[in-house]
Amino acid sequence: MIVLGIETSCDETSVSIVEKNRNSLGGKVLSESTLSQINKHKVFGGVVPELASREHSNVLHSLVKHTLKKSKLNLCKIDGFAATTGPGLLGGLLVGSNYAKGLALSQNKPFIPVNHLQGHILVSRMKENVNFPFLCLLASGGHTQILIADNFNKFKLLGETIDDALGEAFDKTAKVLGYSYPGGPIIEKLALRAKKKSFSLPRPLIKEKNCNFSFSGLKTSVRRIVEKGISQSSKKELAHEFQNSVVDCLIVKTERALKIFKKKYNQNGSLVFSGGVASNKFIKSKISKLCFNLGVKFFVPDSKLCVDNATMIAWTGIEKLCNGEKNHSLKITPKPRWDLSNL
Ligand code: KG4
Ligand code: ZN
Repeated sequence: MIVLGIETSCDETSVSIVEKNRNSLGGKVLSESTLSQINKHKVFGGVVPELASREHSNVLHSLVKHTLKKSKLNLCKIDGFAATTGPGLLGGLLVGSNYAKGLALSQNKPFIPVNHLQGHILVSRMKENVNFPFLCLLASGGHTQILIADNFNKFKLLGETIDDALGEAFDKTAKVLGYSYPGGPIIEKLALRAKKKSFSLPRPLIKEKNCNFSFSGLKTSVRRIVEKGISQSSKKELAHEFQNSVVDCLIVKTERALKIFKKKYNQNGSLVFSGGVASNKFIKSKISKLCFNLGVKFFVPDSKLCVDNATMIAWTGIEKLCNGEKNHSLKITPKPRWDLSNL
């Protein structure tokens, strides 16, 4: 089975062609191309929705042609056309899903609407044998949630951020410190150079007996410190303390969720860490250690598959087709807000 996926929900235009053989569990990327719009949005300090949709529509056609050429496949060999239909910025979602619908119509093959968050989670199954049910810690620029994945299409939310998403907190903190968007990779690099503990930031909600997070106060605490005056050389220590605080919150809530999982399924189970923030090596290593200590299997997709990409959309399309899901109507329209509990 071969599916072409399109991702245009935010500031990456991405196209990928993924193949799954009948007797193998995983999938193989035949070709993939991603164009980032980051440089276009940088000057504005964040993603400008109107600019994003224009850029997607300017480049998508040639990106699809280029990706097909790299795969050496003819369009008629594709079994389904998947596109992100939410959550995300409406303009971009319309560009990508309408294009995929056109391809599906022209080839008389299914159009597969894909939830972006489902893509972030299920892509962990493309290269590794991650069996359902499993626990998932999803941390991206728009979402931070802990969920149980019961099957490819059934997710139960255990907790989530009550304000900013974790990636958003990284981006805002970097901005406060005078760095550009996206802030996550910059904070990670900066923190690596820290030599001592000079700051103490709060650990929001850590004592609350639930699986929720709050990250907006953290960025405010950083702002207060910066406003009082901070030397250029102390920024790395502040970035390090920011990451330490984030890790403490993630660890406590993930451990709590793992206990809930164990009680429900009578097994240690597996944890999938996914979304853009899961490309952070420091956070990844701390969560990996937690899982090791608890006897829980730990999976993180490759960094390239943690940040936004069309491979996760194509792979989710494959999982849907393989499971016989049939909501292929061309009438399906994008949903800028679309919870995993409402697939
Ligand atoms: O999943 P993603 O590519 O897009 C969304 O669905 O939102 O996540 C983007 C977010 C950005 O906020 C970015 O700063 C963050 O992921 N991010 C990171 C790192 N790389 C990307 N955060 C922390 N450390 C990183 N290395
Ligand atoms: Zn994403």
